[in-house]
Amino acid sequence: MRYLGGKWKIRKWVVDKIKPFLFNSSRYIEPFCGSCAVASLASRELGIPVYASDNNRYLIALLKAFKEFGDCDEMWPQITRDRFIHIRENKELYDDYIIGWAGFSYSFGGRFFHSHRFNDQNDIDRRVKNNRIKMHKELRHVNISLMDYDEVEIKKTDVVYCDPPYKNKSGYSGEFNHAKFNEWVRVKSNICPILVSEYEFNLDEFICIGEKKNRFQ
Ligand SMILES: C[S@@+](CC[C@H](N)C(=O)[O-])C[C@H]1O[C@@H](n2cnc3c(N)ncnc32)[C@H](O)[C@@H]1O
Repeated sequence: MRYLGGKWKIRKWVVDKIKPFLFNSSRYIEPFCGSCAVASLASRELGIPVYASDNNRYLIALLKAFKEFGDCDEMWPQITRDRFIHIRENKELYDDYIIGWAGFSYSFGGRFFHSHRFNDQNDIDRRVKNNRIKMHKELRHVNISLMDYDEVEIKKTDVVYCDPPYKNKSGYSGEFNHAKFNEWVRVKSNICPILVSEYEFNLDEFICIGEKKNRFQ
């Protein structure tokens, strides 16, 4: 699934970085799951239950719908350019998952309602269908919920991977308070391993366990 900041191209690399921190872990927690690129692979490779959450209600509704009925064609309307615009302008008339379907799947680069991928409707319909069927399988063993990261319960036997909005990068709705997040990491890392993806870190406080110089985040 295309998603702003999505880790699909490097998810294997990320999951391999997480593995040495598993110790006796009983749960994998991902509080900024986005498109679940990492969480879905983790659910196959880590051998422990995976809990993924995000605070974007349309994204979470879409992921839950992919998981539950992503393979039922009749639940997924075709989104023409006109319908895309109608949904964007009249969100109160639509289910959250349909808003997510139009806003993420039919937008360039998976940027929420950025602009409709309308060049060739048949080609787009084929691609988004393939993608939703893939997501239906990918998400089979992922527990998905709508939550702010600071509402996520963290236990001693968890391993946590965070991929928050990056500093000085635009594209997500709302402002992200990085200072508050860093403080949350400080506190929670006394409980269990917390791994974070970022462009910039204060290396007096964080240990760098891997760097990826790649145009894909
Ligand atoms: C860099 S993206 C994560 C991309 C994800 N790793 C992937 O592969 O698709 C950051 C995510 O953080 C979410 N987010 C922003 N603020 C949040 C908050 N306060 N609590 C939980 N999620 C938040 C955004 O909705 C977005 O999905």
